[in-house]
Amino acid sequence: MLTASRRWRRDGKSIGLVPTMGALHAGHLSLVERARLENELVVVSVFVNPIQFGPNEDLERYPRDWNHDFKMLEAAEVDAVYRPSVMAMYPPEASTRVRVGGLTDTLEGAARPGHFEGVATVVTKLFAAVEPDRAYFGQKDAQQAAVVNRLSRDLDLGVEIRVVPTVREPDGLALSSRNVYLSAEERHAALAISAALREAAGAYASGERDQARLRARLAARLALEPLVKPEYAELVDPATFRKPGTLAVIAAKVGKTRLIDNHDLEKPFPG
Ligand code: PAF
Repeated sequence: MLTASRRWRRDGKSIGLVPTMGALHAGHLSLVERARLENELVVVSVFVNPIQFGPNEDLERYPRDWNHDFKMLEAAEVDAVYRPSVMAMYPPEASTRVRVGGLTDTLEGAARPGHFEGVATVVTKLFAAVEPDRAYFGQKDAQQAAVVNRLSRDLDLGVEIRVVPTVREPDGLALSSRNVYLSAEERHAALAISAALREAAGAYASGERDQARLRARLAARLALEPLVKPEYAELVDPATFRKPGTLAVIAAKVGKTRLIDNHDLEKPFPG
C-alpha cells in the first residue's frame, strides 16, 4: 500500500480514501461512489480497529466477512484495498495515541470512553499510510466525522474530510454493519429510531422550536417500543455536539445491539 500510494502521489494522481471496518453495505458504496467522483484513485481500508472498542463492546463478534467485502470492492472497481493486520497497526511497542479535545466529551465520547481516541489514532495512521487528498465518512457517525475533521485540521494532515448522507432502507432504518445482529422482531422495533427523527423533523418543519418539546417528541416515539432502550435522544449543535441545536441524535440499545442515528431538523427527513 505504501509503495502504491507513494507512486500515485509521485505521478500527481489524486487519492480518495474510504476508511471502513469491513462488513460492507450500500452505505459504504455511497462513500466509494462519492470518492470516485472527486478523485482519480479510490482506496478503501478494511480494518476492525480493536482500540476503538470498549472492554464490554462487540469487538469479538463484530461481523467480518472478507469474501463478501472483496466481491463488493471488486464490483465497485476500487483501485486498491488497504487491509493491515492488527500486529502491523499496533505492534507491542506502539504507545502513541491521538486524542481530540472538546468535541469528544459529549454523546458518543461520554457513552464510549476511549472510543474517539481509538478512532483518531487509527485514522491518523491510515492517513499516514495512504496519504489521501480526501477521506470519506458517513453522516450516520456525525460526531466521528466532526472529530476526524478537527483532527485533520489541528494536525495539519492536509486531508479534506467529506461527509456523505446516511443511506437508509426504504422503511427508514439507517444502514449499519451492526444491523446484522438484529432479530426480525428487533429490526422492526429499531424503526422507532428513524421514526422519532422523522417526527421531530416534521414538528420542526411545522414551526416547533422549543428544545424541550422536540426532545420530548423523540423520547415519546422511542418509548412506544419496549425493545428499544435509549441511551440518549438529544438536540445538539452540529458543529460542537453540545446543547442546544438542531441536530437530533439518538443512541439506543435494541436487544443487545447498540444503534446510533441522527438528523438535522433544518432539513426534511428523506423518504
Ligand atoms: O466508521 C468506521 O467504520 C470506523 O470508525 C473507522 C472510521 C473506519 C475507523 O476505524
